[in-house]
Amino acid sequence: MAADTPHTDARLAAGHDKSLLRFITCGSVDDGKSTLIGRLLYETQALYDDQLGALAADSKRYGTQGDEPDFALLVDGLSAEREQGITIDVAYRFFATDRRKFIVADTPGHEQYTRNMVTGASTADLAVILVDARKGVLTQTRRHGILAALLGIRDIVLAVNKLDLAGWSQDTFAAIDRDYRAFAHSLGIERVTSIPLSALRGDNIAAPSTYTPWYEGPSLIEHLERVEAGRADAEATPLRLPVQWVNRPNADFRGFAGRLLGGRVRPGDRVRVLPSGRESSIERIVTFDGDLPEARAGQSVTLTLADEIDVSRGDVICAADDPAGLADQFEATLVWMADAPMLPGRPYLVKMGASTLGASFGHPKYRLDVNSLEHLAAKTLELNEIGVANLTLDRAVAFDPYAVNRDMGSFIVIDRYTNQTVGAGLLHFALRRSQNIHWQAVEVDKAARMRQHGHKPCVLWLTGLSGSGKSTIANIVERQLHARGAHTYLLDGDNVRHGLSRDLGFTDADRVENIRRIGEVARLMVDAGLIVITAFISPFRSERRLARGMVEDGEFIEIFVDTPLAVAEQRDPKGLYRKARRGELANFTGVDSPYEAPEMPELRIDTLADTPEDAATRIVELLVARGVLRSG
Ligand code: ADX
Repeated sequence: MAADTPHTDARLAAGHDKSLLRFITCGSVDDGKSTLIGRLLYETQALYDDQLGALAADSKRYGTQGDEPDFALLVDGLSAEREQGITIDVAYRFFATDRRKFIVADTPGHEQYTRNMVTGASTADLAVILVDARKGVLTQTRRHGILAALLGIRDIVLAVNKLDLAGWSQDTFAAIDRDYRAFAHSLGIERVTSIPLSALRGDNIAAPSTYTPWYEGPSLIEHLERVEAGRADAEATPLRLPVQWVNRPNADFRGFAGRLLGGRVRPGDRVRVLPSGRESSIERIVTFDGDLPEARAGQSVTLTLADEIDVSRGDVICAADDPAGLADQFEATLVWMADAPMLPGRPYLVKMGASTLGASFGHPKYRLDVNSLEHLAAKTLELNEIGVANLTLDRAVAFDPYAVNRDMGSFIVIDRYTNQTVGAGLLHFALRRSQNIHWQAVEVDKAARMRQHGHKPCVLWLTGLSGSGKSTIANIVERQLHARGAHTYLLDGDNVRHGLSRDLGFTDADRVENIRRIGEVARLMVDAGLIVITAFISPFRSERRLARGMVEDGEFIEIFVDTPLAVAEQRDPKGLYRKARRGELANFTGVDSPYEAPEMPELRIDTLADTPEDAATRIVELLVARGVLRSG
């Protein structure tokens, strides 16, 4: 890849001219995709390193080189994975004819293909979808079409390959064309061009084949050269510049650097910065080559503003008269890409533009049957599944719906512990309630209650295996605190499951929801000034962390009631381990459902060493040491 040069921005601009077509190829295993790409490169001029010119700079956007925070959103996140050794197999190839330059994203068809395809399609204008003429339209072919449509691609080339092996049959070709066209129509894609091919022999690739006299359309390359591949022109959308970093080399200069995700900008333009809503106007557009009179969507620039207003990384500079929306709750389409399913209520990270936010999803409203496009009921989303769910973020962000601006309206989902990208999504719209629900400010507040109670509120979060001794210890703690005049409340697993969580069982998804509810209840009780004691297995780190995040720093005290499985199982106070071992109780923690021990609890209790009374005393002492209670 060519080394970075000071001309990056000029080249980037050149890379965005109309003679460039970005497309993606998708196919199932063995339908000849590599052969087709090989053929395309053979019939055209493949571009390498020093020949790349503008494309070299453009390739930066695809994360193939450099560490400038300048790539497209999706690739940005995925390239972080590459650094961690997680493979994403999207290869970008560059070639040219006399009429046009091309960037093709080659995504393999193996089972993690949604991940690859979403990466490849996020910047593509057109999709070439391969089918083997002998097999026709398969489930995977349909899924490729759905993903392409979701990602905003409106032009599809259906490459009906290996037609030589089907005797160059016009009927076969026509049947596949009809079949796919009907399906694409139901997706809202009308621009489908079917081309009969033999990629191996080169028929209808660069020139009309003598075997298909009945076919009057263009060859593949001819079509790719001429197609007016069109998504809504990014330059025609209002100005959006998510600030990737703030450039402050000296006291006199403060620039906001990032890539324009929409519109054009000129000095003097009025802008509004979100989320603050402050306004100013553009002073200069700075690049390595000097100031520009104008910049357009796709370019990376540094903007300076006429006024000294607060702007930080993650903020979005918008056209003042047409700013982005601001919301923290959305309806979104979600494509799940991980082996572990999406669990409603589980805390994830979401990366949107230059911001990373805490996030969780509601229950899927539905998932798509990729063959019939029917909406199916779903409790979770599994690997490669596509569904619709509400998304809640931990703060409001600037956004546009995906249909309006692909870059502003898309996000990736990251697992908090593995840092892996586990999903990708598209924003439909902000939920109205996110704008209309505000925390009601009340006059008697937490501080007032604290003065009356004579102690601080907190959550004593006991976690451990079933039969580890949580309830026993929790009861003694509450008795001791009560005796000291503290205001307490004990939330216990078995009791909560009779009421608040009556509708929940013990699947991973149900446990996540159980703990979320308890966290919310504990939060309200802390606000009421109580010392809340909770005794739940709460087997997952993610949800314990979620509960921790619901109260203020220092108010969450995690206590690991550490009893080895063998010991808990031997005690078996309710006979449940025996049942589970006999196979009469599914998803039992420690038997066929995991327990993730706390890594850094505020207190660990070794129940082999301490009696329940000792343990309770240690907990109360901890409250005194932390200033929750006064001593004595
Ligand atoms: S949690 O995982 O969601 O935190 P919780 O603490 O509410 O679990 O409930 C655990 C109690 O439910 C156990 O002490 C036991 O009495 C009962 N129980 C019934 N089925 C199961 C199961 N499959 N796994 C764990 N506990 C179960």
